[in-house]
Amino acid sequence: MSNYEGRWKTVEVKVEEGIAWVTLNRPEKRNAMSPTLNREMREILETLEQDADAGVVVLTGAGDAWTAGMDLKEYFREVDAGPEILQEKIRREASEWQWKLLRMYSKPTIAMVNGWCFGGGFSPLVACDLAIAADEATFGLSEVNWGIPPGNLVSKAMADTVGHRESLYYIMTGRTFDGVKAAQMGLVNKSVPLAQLREETVTLARELLEKNPVVLRAAKIGFKRCRELNWEQNEDYLYAKLDQARLRDPEHGREEGMKQFLDEKSIKPGLQTYRR
Ligand code: COA
Repeated sequence: MSNYEGRWKTVEVKVEEGIAWVTLNRPEKRNAMSPTLNREMREILETLEQDADAGVVVLTGAGDAWTAGMDLKEYFREVDAGPEILQEKIRREASEWQWKLLRMYSKPTIAMVNGWCFGGGFSPLVACDLAIAADEATFGLSEVNWGIPPGNLVSKAMADTVGHRESLYYIMTGRTFDGVKAAQMGLVNKSVPLAQLREETVTLARELLEKNPVVLRAAKIGFKRCRELNWEQNEDYLYAKLDQARLRDPEHGREEGMKQFLDEKSIKPGLQTYRR
């Protein structure tokens, strides 16, 4: 069983029964994303990708925050004071995990939003495949309140998940909203009382763990990329993805599923997954 105890300074990682719990761990700074945290998160995602014990990744935060966004001191003020070219490296390191790695990650990802979620936090939130929030969580595009437009891919993340009016309303006012509203807007899949958040997340993660991982990967990446292609390109791309999944699938899920339904009559694939 993988043991990552104490390996990273700003993030805690625990793997339990197939679920990798990745907890942003700077509660005293409301888990603000510093350059160190960004570098560590990249290493963590790359490590977990190769860890056979980790089937699903859950991203959450320690204490009463998911993340208060980019670290205003270490990511902005201290970098502003350095050479101009340093911005490139610092920004790249943030993007690399917050959406480049996370959006097309090889394993299913769930954002478990336990509390404050502000600004830059919206990029990894939307880059996770699925998201469950506490009803009590507080979300906000607060950039306008401290004098900048949303940075990194925050606006793109909003445009991809939430409607035009809702996005502009929150981007332009900086007003906050709770987990219930986030679910209504489609920013997260659902919200539940904080006391049930972990249990709800475990149930969802376990459901994903029952599915064929190669097929899940092809399905989620196919969906995410298909938004950027036209219908003809999509036909080609999505069939290529389907063929790739069949070719790569060591458990031959398609054949197994058909056998269990057509020959054994032991499953109803409309209602349940095939037995792996
Ligand atoms: N960057 C750097 N430090 C942050 C931070 C951020 N984004 N958010 C919180 N912190 C730090 C505070 O500076 C404070 O540090 P200190 O104890 O050394 O003074 C500590 O975390 C606790 O913050 P505090 O404001 O006292 O906590 P709170 O529970 O009363 O309020 C928030 C929580 C999230 C509402 C508030 O911290 C906040 O508004 N943070 C900024 C959120 C934001 O606009 N993020 C967008 C960045 S892109």
